[in-house]
Amino acid sequence: MSQLSLPLAHLQTEPHHAHLATRDRLQALLQEDFDFQGQYAAHATHNLHPFPAKFPPQLPRRFIQALTQPGDVVLDPMMGSGTTVLEAYLAQRTAVGFDIDPLARLLAQVKVTPLPLDQTARTAAEVVVEARTALAQPDAVAQSLDQRFNPKSRDFIHYWFPVQSQLELAALIQAIERVESSTIRACLQLAFSATIITKSAGVSLARDLAHTRPHKVKEAEWRSPIGLFEKRVGQNLAAFAAMGWTSAPTQLEAGDAQQLPLPDASVDLIVTSPPYASNAIDYMRAHKFSLVWLGYPIEDLSQRRREYVGGEALDDFSFEPLPDYTAEVVAAVEKADPRKGRVLHRYYSEMTRVLREMRRVLKPGTCAILVVGTSTFKGQATHVQHCLGDVGQALGLDLVGIAERRIDRNRRMMPARHGGKTGSQIEERMHEEYLIGFQKPAYVRCLN
Ligand SMILES: C[S@@+](CC[C@H](N)C(=O)[O-])C[C@H]1O[C@@H](n2cnc3c(N)ncnc32)[C@H](O)[C@@H]1O
Repeated sequence: MSQLSLPLAHLQTEPHHAHLATRDRLQALLQEDFDFQGQYAAHATHNLHPFPAKFPPQLPRRFIQALTQPGDVVLDPMMGSGTTVLEAYLAQRTAVGFDIDPLARLLAQVKVTPLPLDQTARTAAEVVVEARTALAQPDAVAQSLDQRFNPKSRDFIHYWFPVQSQLELAALIQAIERVESSTIRACLQLAFSATIITKSAGVSLARDLAHTRPHKVKEAEWRSPIGLFEKRVGQNLAAFAAMGWTSAPTQLEAGDAQQLPLPDASVDLIVTSPPYASNAIDYMRAHKFSLVWLGYPIEDLSQRRREYVGGEALDDFSFEPLPDYTAEVVAAVEKADPRKGRVLHRYYSEMTRVLREMRRVLKPGTCAILVVGTSTFKGQATHVQHCLGDVGQALGLDLVGIAERRIDRNRRMMPARHGGKTGSQIEERMHEEYLIGFQKPAYVRCLN
């Protein structure tokens, strides 16, 4: 792809002073060091639940502090675990976030919702007692477990969870569902979920869940879900106790970044990291392990998975025309592997719609920062950072700069290498990522 050259922007702005100052500030920010290697990242409620490919809190914080004022609206349209929205909240900005993933929404919401700590601790202890009492009659719990799930969900649970774990989880979730306060219930659901989705060994027979390429082990040392739940509630309550609560408003919803329910020109800053192309991190594949317990039928979750940005399903997909440079990158991949090329075209089509929405909701003169990883498809580099820069420019955003940062792999959960394969593409592509800085023009004059 080295013969490709980046296209010239075909839109030019007529800046005024404030606009220029913001542009200069963003340009200078992009020169800073964003590696944050070894720096503490678990403050406030950032670590309530594992989540793959979180970015470090220092990253959104730097842009929020430099580019917005208290009260301004900071948006993350693909908020994931809520790193941007939590940092916006802590900095007294209005935090607005969307995600298509129900677990992401639950997690982000719990992170910014104040809790009555003593009452939550008491309720958690009662939940544990209720679950243990129910387990004194295992047949009744087994029966309730069968009634709770439809056949597909039941098969899934029987396949992936040891029988004793199934019983404990069923007794626990039923006790949690009886909790009256929705705030406390959400906090306990999250602790429950964190016994299943873990960095290493959880209570299912799936391994590498947080790396999102689950594989089943035949045997595993049994770990009591109730014991893990108690431990996780204790850890999370300690985080809540140390949290610097503010009065900043938040608006966190389930939603599609390709169609944001926000008015035009209503946002002061966007900091976001979209998924990788081609399901490199498959959120739903991992999250369904706890969502099925939280009441989502397994077939609905599989259907929903097709709607995530970066998915591989191509039937009935509505493709967008791509600007020249990006179209050339897609064509090169398509030549090596037609299906992979179409999957990449799907990704850039979805990101076209996301960037179009971002441009619409930003106020004139304000900025969006996208953090992206790139990858290799069939030996062809996908140049994600340049393609998204290209797509953004074609939509009328100013591309202010692209910076590179090294990922701290010791901290960040990324897809792991399997089978002792060295130099795998996944490993190679996940050592660094890129920050793409855009500004929405204050005034636009079309040169074409
Ligand atoms: C890389 S993660 C974001 C991680 C986040 N920056 C953090 O620190 O936790 C990408 C997120 O995009 C979400 N996503 C995928 N498709 C989406 C869509 N169409 N609309 C909104 N969110 C979507 C995924 O569910 C996932 O949570």
